[in-house]
Amino acid sequence: MGPSDFMNSDVYLRTAISVESNGWAHFDKVKMPDYRWGIFLAKPEGNRKISFGLHMGEPVWQEVPGEHRSTLRRLIVTQGDTEPASVEQQRLLGHTCPSLYDLRNLFQVNIEEGRHLWAMAYLLHAYFGRDGREEADQLLERRSGDIDKPRILGAFNESTTDWLSYFMFTFFTDRDGKFQLAALAESAFDPLARTCRFMLTEEAHHMFVGDTGIQRVIQRTCELMISKDTDNIAPYGGINLDTIQRYLNFHFAISLDLFGSEISTNAANYFTSGIKGRYKEDKIDDNHVLSNLAYNVFKLESGKISTSAEPALTVLNERLRDDYIEDCNKGIYRWNKTIREHNINFTLQLPNRAFGRSIGQYRNNRFTPDGALISTTDWNNMKNTWLPNKSDQNHIKSLMQKVVEPGAFAGWIAPPRRGINGQPISFKYVRLS
Ligand SMILES: [Fe+2]
Ligand SMILES: [Fe+2]
Repeated sequence: MGPSDFMNSDVYLRTAISVESNGWAHFDKVKMPDYRWGIFLAKPEGNRKISFGLHMGEPVWQEVPGEHRSTLRRLIVTQGDTEPASVEQQRLLGHTCPSLYDLRNLFQVNIEEGRHLWAMAYLLHAYFGRDGREEADQLLERRSGDIDKPRILGAFNESTTDWLSYFMFTFFTDRDGKFQLAALAESAFDPLARTCRFMLTEEAHHMFVGDTGIQRVIQRTCELMISKDTDNIAPYGGINLDTIQRYLNFHFAISLDLFGSEISTNAANYFTSGIKGRYKEDKIDDNHVLSNLAYNVFKLESGKISTSAEPALTVLNERLRDDYIEDCNKGIYRWNKTIREHNINFTLQLPNRAFGRSIGQYRNNRFTPDGALISTTDWNNMKNTWLPNKSDQNHIKSLMQKVVEPGAFAGWIAPPRRGINGQPISFKYVRLS
């Protein structure tokens, strides 16, 4: 299920060894099959109480209450299913790595997603009896993109064919994971909450890989634009800013779909019963029950998107999506800073949330990146300027050449500012066999 080949290579990997915040990880050259999956749950908080919903103030659950068993099992299976899926999607990328540094980061993310699968399988085995064990087996039987046994969520059945897509995936799609885990980290089911809290410490590195990966592509693009004095640097082996914008549009839209429908009675029930909270629940200043509270969301009515106050309990998916969009914008801000530092007049932007959606209220209509409703004819005429087109894809494909000299980087991406764990950039992060 994991990376194709490289099983005999020594990889400079981080292994989680404890849940203490100082010294939780250990770095060493390890062959991937020798990487050991530990089970880590953040330390129990003595007397932790349920912090939201109908059971607020009661002690958290150390066992699964019978009435929430199937719901909790389904949430754990859905989360668990995404973890190996991304590894399967990325399994060929090692062959076109832009450097040993990037190859190492890819494998680091891959083994940790494997550990996250194990963390979810552990919960299924330890707390859900026979049906839990059967679900855990099925996690191993499904495969990304398999016609008969695909992964559960659509975005996890597309293969990741190039490194620009990979960096976009770790920035946008791993970040969906961060928000789902953060919401589950509030759960009244304490073993799940503690497991998710520890997973979040590893997940931060995955988003770092995406964030800095795109930043380095932009850095290189800007350097080429200046030295060649043109916006079209594709002939010089770089990636044009408008191509980057199109990849961004695509990955943002499919990641937004992962949050589900705007209005959701399931999400309301998860919250009320204490199964899944909000992002940073304890930092929110309200009654944490959400009865009689409203929340402003965008609503599509007679072709126009406007804001509307809705019962807060029914729009929790949209609220989590809002938190996610805010977090994404911080990355876009940093990327634009790199462009500005080169005195280049171009601004990357997140498209409107209605753009390119397949789930929720926007799914049956077409919208511009600015959020204007358009006809299917207009969409078909314009989509190649908004989403990765054939010429983008062919160009990106042509750039995907393996670079494995220590300290060397492919021409379409700048080196990172620093190496991993204090090592130099030219460190031999992977010893190929
Ligand atoms: Fe993960
Ligand atoms: Fe991840």
